[in-house]
Amino acid sequence: MIKQEKITEIRDRASIVEVISDYVTLKKAGRNYQGLCPFHGEKTPSFTVSEEKGIFHCFGCQAGGSVFHFLMKYDQLSFPDAVERVAKRYGIKIERSDGARDPSESGERESLYRINERTAANYRQILLSQPAGRKALDYLKSRKVTEEIAQRFMVGYAPQTGSGLLDLLRREKLSVKDAMRLGLIGQRSGQQFHEKFFARLMFPIINAGGKIVGFGGRVLDRGLPKYINSSETPLFHKGSTLYGLYQAKDGIRRVDRVVVVEGYLDVMALHQFGLCYAVATLGTALTSDHVRVLGRYTRNIVALFDGDDAGRKAAARSFEIFIETGLLGRAAFLPKGEDPDTYIHGHGPAALEKILEEAVPLADYYFSSLKQRFGMSLEGKSQIASEVSRLLTKVSNPIEVDLLVRRAVDTLGVREEVLRRPVVTPGYSLGSKRTPKDSPATPSPIRDDIAERSLVSLMLRFPAVLRSVEKEGEARQWLSSKWQAVVDLILAEWQERRQVDVFRVAQRVHPDQAAEITALALQGESILETECDKMAADCLSHLRRKYLRTLERNLRVAIRAAEERKDEQAKRERILEWQDVVRKERQLERRRLEPKPTIR
Ligand code: GTP
Ligand code: MN
Repeated sequence: MIKQEKITEIRDRASIVEVISDYVTLKKAGRNYQGLCPFHGEKTPSFTVSEEKGIFHCFGCQAGGSVFHFLMKYDQLSFPDAVERVAKRYGIKIERSDGARDPSESGERESLYRINERTAANYRQILLSQPAGRKALDYLKSRKVTEEIAQRFMVGYAPQTGSGLLDLLRREKLSVKDAMRLGLIGQRSGQQFHEKFFARLMFPIINAGGKIVGFGGRVLDRGLPKYINSSETPLFHKGSTLYGLYQAKDGIRRVDRVVVVEGYLDVMALHQFGLCYAVATLGTALTSDHVRVLGRYTRNIVALFDGDDAGRKAAARSFEIFIETGLLGRAAFLPKGEDPDTYIHGHGPAALEKILEEAVPLADYYFSSLKQRFGMSLEGKSQIASEVSRLLTKVSNPIEVDLLVRRAVDTLGVREEVLRRPVVTPGYSLGSKRTPKDSPATPSPIRDDIAERSLVSLMLRFPAVLRSVEKEGEARQWLSSKWQAVVDLILAEWQERRQVDVFRVAQRVHPDQAAEITALALQGESILETECDKMAADCLSHLRRKYLRTLERNLRVAIRAAEERKDEQAKRERILEWQDVVRKERQLERRRLEPKPTIR
């Protein structure tokens, strides 16, 4: 615990602009400072820091708070750690009252971290300078791991006869009980303690804040099990921890991309060749918690899979994980029989980067896997449709629903209405009488202005989309009057200031619509930059098609009316107009049906 007065003192002495400037380039803008938000991808700065108020706020992703909150979020620190970091920077001494008498939550964690840290250092020392480590060093060499990388990942060795961990704990007055909680020490009977890891190469698992939360240990031969990982402890949760994240986080931010692989050695190999944005799960499939963690660093997540069937199945499965988190990941595949480690050593970093460049949006991949699984017979198509509608119920973001539906229509050639039909769950049929209470939740009403909404959301986020709407001069007339007004406001804002401030737009519309617009702005955050052009083009062509359809219908009515009034002149004019519209519709349809590769 740090005393409240101390925290206030630190906050008063610290300059939030100075601290954040270590991470983000800030420019003075009026009273405040602005920069590109480090918590979400953006091209125009919406990240604001106020020195006066001592706070930051991102108008794009709603992140905000004090200088401590910034560090907590940026480096995944606990509050006391963040306070300590700032204090250190300003040479302020603090005593944390987490001594023996006051075993606060964070004090307890600190002593657990301390044990892991000392244990890792000990394994490392054995690897580097004890005879027992010789074999392990040779093994690393045979795997072509350089010393520098082994150092960066703090690789060590736990010898057959033990690492002397118990002695170390006693010597340094660290708690054996805590070491047991961490899964480093076991107890057979009575006071017989033993080390849990032995005869293994040791890979410390480090959290984003740089603290060791657990270990993975690999045999040096073909022994089984190949790996032993720390069990779940107060510090270590497999399902949300990523190996290599600490070493990768700067790289991930720099290239705005992360690649997820499977093995410890894969991560190290990629880093060794300069692909410093690689992380791995810990022998488990990717979970939505993993995706959420990664989403704090980048929205551009590529999962690298084996090229075999198992890899493809894993990719299809992971799509659902991404969907639940509102992020749209991509999948890349290695040639059969290779893993990232062998591939980068055999073919070099450029070849692997090329594979990553060619990553397929998981959505596309998921759809083609459905095609393969069910076939394109009538029955197959209907199975696919029900599979896709099932998935759609998991998606909370209407823009994503829309994106998926349109992708599905394109790649599968199934009808939109079929996909949007609510899923009929077993035991529920329309005929059966049920009270509203036990019937499945009614799906949210399908809005007929979903394309308009998507477009607005895209416009609020991507200048590229603003430009293309601007260029498509007719676009505004394809919209309903409600959305026409909004689009006009956004375009005016853009033309005036070359950036769109959602809050300014929101202030100028009816209060009811204001919230709708800010929500759309927030939903836009889940769209990948690489997707925005295609999505905008999809929206525009959808709107144009709808507009032409209405126009065509109206003209037919007008022609009939002119006929009835026997107004030959009007009739001729309307027919010409009608022909023009039909021609445009056909053009649009042809463009839509042009064969598009499913895998880009
Ligand atoms: P090498 O086989 O030496 O190249 O290591 P690798 O890291 O590439 O391992 P592999 O591709 O076989 O497995 C991927 C990941 O799955 C590993 O890094 C471990 O996290 C996990 N894993 C593999 N084998 C085991 C095992 O026997 N037990 C446990 N708990 N995890 C394992
Ligand atoms: Mn491997």
